[in-house]
Amino acid sequence: MPKAQPRFFCQSCGAESPKWAGQCAACGEWNTLTEAPSEPPSAGRRAGSRAGGYAGTTALQQLNEVKQDAMARVPTGLSELDRVLGGGLVAGSVNLLGGDPGIGKSTLLLQLLCAIHAIQPSIYVTGEESLSQVSMRAGRLGAGDTALPLLADTQVEAILDQAQRLKPKLMVIDSIQTMWTDSLDSAPGSVSQVRESAARLVRFAKQTGTTVFLVGHVTKEGAIGGPRVLEHMVDTVLYFESDQGSRYRLIRAVKNRFGAVNELGIFAMTETGLKPVSNPSAIFLTRDAQPVPGSTVLVTREGTRPLLVECQALVDSSHLGNPRRVAVGLDGQRLAMLLAVLHRHCGIAMADQDVFVNIVGGVRVTETAADLAVLLAALSSFRDRPVPHDWVIFGEVGLSGEIRPVPGGEDRIREAAKHGFKRAIVPAANRPRAGGAGGIEVVAVKRLSEVLDTL
Ligand code: TYD
Ligand code: MG
Repeated sequence: MPKAQPRFFCQSCGAESPKWAGQCAACGEWNTLTEAPSEPPSAGRRAGSRAGGYAGTTALQQLNEVKQDAMARVPTGLSELDRVLGGGLVAGSVNLLGGDPGIGKSTLLLQLLCAIHAIQPSIYVTGEESLSQVSMRAGRLGAGDTALPLLADTQVEAILDQAQRLKPKLMVIDSIQTMWTDSLDSAPGSVSQVRESAARLVRFAKQTGTTVFLVGHVTKEGAIGGPRVLEHMVDTVLYFESDQGSRYRLIRAVKNRFGAVNELGIFAMTETGLKPVSNPSAIFLTRDAQPVPGSTVLVTREGTRPLLVECQALVDSSHLGNPRRVAVGLDGQRLAMLLAVLHRHCGIAMADQDVFVNIVGGVRVTETAADLAVLLAALSSFRDRPVPHDWVIFGEVGLSGEIRPVPGGEDRIREAAKHGFKRAIVPAANRPRAGGAGGIEVVAVKRLSEVLDTL
């Protein structure tokens, strides 16, 4: 029998190394490599490797003969959470919820449990707070009298024992970093403990069909719990994000085996917990009553959802040899490129001007559909002439001055119409079919010079 090779893991990032070294080659931390503790018993390992094969059979089967498990979805009662999950909870799925401390992970999951416990027997396992803290929070959420089973424990075997007896349909582990298992003797919170605890919980979820939520803390580098190892073990990875000081919270699905990724759910943190925001365009779009120069409205897309946001620009004569190009909420390189297109193809030079562009509301726009709106905002500020208030603009600008189509054109136009905009400037190839515009006047353009004529 071949002798088992020792393996070393970085306690900071989870990277594996065949031999010990003073510094981790992956993350550069010093003194973090430790030898992997003695392997768990082989029976356990085999059971673990089989947990992935849902059917638990090794017989060959043809693809077209495989029976699909009916994947019933249980709506959570929180519309925005359903959206990121792809329609609701899936039995036997393991979901990882990451985010900065204090952003509202525990609050969201407690809200979920209290709302769903009546139809889906649930259990809340807290390794960070005392039961009275949880009860106080539930009181704040107005759900203090829910008969929800709580467990303050951090030892995975004990937790699973309780769960075997209780047979919940939904289990929340808050947080996975506090969990430890008997079978390893490294300290709780170390990479091997987190990984092995998660593996046991995943196995439990698959074997019993329990939906499991794991709360994961985000490290300085932004990875969940340092070890990225967790991300590939689970079915869904959700990230909670927020702007500094904002009461809005965004949940983004970065991995979803049962739905689309990059879906976005939006919540507002209130005195009584998180409230879904079903009409986000309304919150990102609070504008002056009068049109002002340097402001345009664009329709961007987050996942499959169109979102109206305002783009502001300030163009001012520069006293620097190298005028500034500052972009907040979008790519600075792209801004420089757009200004070059404007100069080369329309003869409008801003070479002696500082250009500042900002996407209002802390939204980050990463798609090229913002190009046209950004250019027109800059131009509007440069010429000191406002773009009418009820216009909405989107489209990609190409290097030869052409306006290129963007995905989901008709959805974007309809979203603008829904919010009372009267006129949309869109790429020619995004012109909606007859009746698809929802009552908004559509100006379809092919080239940048055409757009300037329209203005
Ligand atoms: P929490 O859920 O404890 O964060 P996490 O589990 O991600 O660390 O979030 C708590 C924060 O939310 C805290 O700063 C207080 C605030 N909060 C409210 O504003 N309203 C509420 O109803 C609740 C329960 C919390
Ligand atoms: Mg918490």
